[in-house]
Amino acid sequence: MSTPEQLDFTPKHADPMPKITYIAPDGATHQVDAAVGTTVMENAIKNLVPGIEAECGGACACATCHVYVEESWFVKTGGPDPMEEDMLDFAYELRPTSRLSCQIKVTEELDGLVVTVPERQA
Ligand code: FES
Repeated sequence: MSTPEQLDFTPKHADPMPKITYIAPDGATHQVDAAVGTTVMENAIKNLVPGIEAECGGACACATCHVYVEESWFVKTGGPDPMEEDMLDFAYELRPTSRLSCQIKVTEELDGLVVTVPERQA
């Protein structure tokens, strides 16, 4: 006979896809489901989020995937590493929470992440 534990079919991870919200300069929002291990840039491109160009394809060599991470999320995304910092110098209207979205890896902890797309890319 089965025990109650064996009959529990409740999924352990009902929604394993973290959600990311991109806010356009005009205030329009795009919310996407992002697979863990992908990047914030890849999800923008895949979901046709306007304003993310990603000319170098994620090699941290173009600064056209620039976003502003919402302040409350900045610590969780972690700051840019030295290579990203150098490339950020080429980004349009840098702010303290600027990141290159190709360098932000999606993790379960980033479920609910909000980033704003700048007026234009580099
Ligand atoms: S896609 Fe080129 S730096 Fe991010």
